[in-house]
Amino acid sequence: MKGIILAGGKGTRLYPMTKVVSKQLLPLYDKPMIYYPLSVLLLAGIRDILIISTPEDTPSFKKLLGDGARLGVSLSYKVQENPNGLAEAFILGEDFIDGDNVCLILGDNVFYGQNLTRTLREARTMVESGDAGAVIFGYPVKDPRAFGVVEFDANGKVLSIEEKPSEPKSKYAVPGLYFYDSSVCEIAKNIKPSERGELEITAVNNEYLDNGKLMALPFDRGFAWLDTGTPEGMLQAAEFIEAMQVRQGFYISCIEEIAWRRGFITHEQLMSLGEELKMTEYGEYLLSLK
Ligand code: DAU
Repeated sequence: MKGIILAGGKGTRLYPMTKVVSKQLLPLYDKPMIYYPLSVLLLAGIRDILIISTPEDTPSFKKLLGDGARLGVSLSYKVQENPNGLAEAFILGEDFIDGDNVCLILGDNVFYGQNLTRTLREARTMVESGDAGAVIFGYPVKDPRAFGVVEFDANGKVLSIEEKPSEPKSKYAVPGLYFYDSSVCEIAKNIKPSERGELEITAVNNEYLDNGKLMALPFDRGFAWLDTGTPEGMLQAAEFIEAMQVRQGFYISCIEEIAWRRGFITHEQLMSLGEELKMTEYGEYLLSLK
């Protein structure tokens, strides 16, 4: 399975913070925001990843993450000229996907909690086995009106999905994490732009729904899907990450640690990554891993 991180957009809602720096490069506590979604793909066991961003920001992502060899993975890059919608990822990424299944994650989405790896594996298996054409997630929020909203039955079969409805049919928001079979590229090429002029991911999901192939898995109580859409949300996310790391001593979304635990790099390689950063707590953490 391939992975795509969509890390473009203008970030206008966070101006002036994002006037010259991509939102997904801003720090969330002790690491750049993109580390968090990247860690999710690594946890899902995905090692072939495309990062899509703006013409201005793509060089910075390359500088930060390189070709991925240091993490035992392959990272490639593609420019999105304009923010034409999330579903454009599958048009820009068609050659990269090359007929495989694919997981898309938005570069500003942060996930943390028990059972994340298990849930990711479950979603991946559902698509790889053909049990589902697409798997999305449902996360209960107090007010889901700012998100995609999904309604699903006890078996996970999706009944409806709507983009930013004024009268949501459920309390389940759809986080920016999606698993698809190889037909997603054809589907993305055939949807029409929405009223706001974007190729909506919800239109892609509705196509799978119409074909009876869309499933949803719930993220429930105790699981964190953090909002980074406002300065307040970013601060709260940073405080959450700091509190968990300091309290438990485990780092959240430490990509080097995950790469090592997954067997993508050796302990020796992990130690040399730690050495490079040993002037920081982050480096000390890497060096402490056994
Ligand atoms: O975060 C989850 C939500 O993301 C879902 O619940 C919605 O169904 C989905 O449409 C999306 O809603 P947003 O309104 O939050 O999407 P937004 O336009 O803010 O874009 C999300 C991220 O993707 C943001 O970091 C910018 C980036 N992006 C966006 C577009 C439209 C791109 O890289 N390229 C794009 O073309």
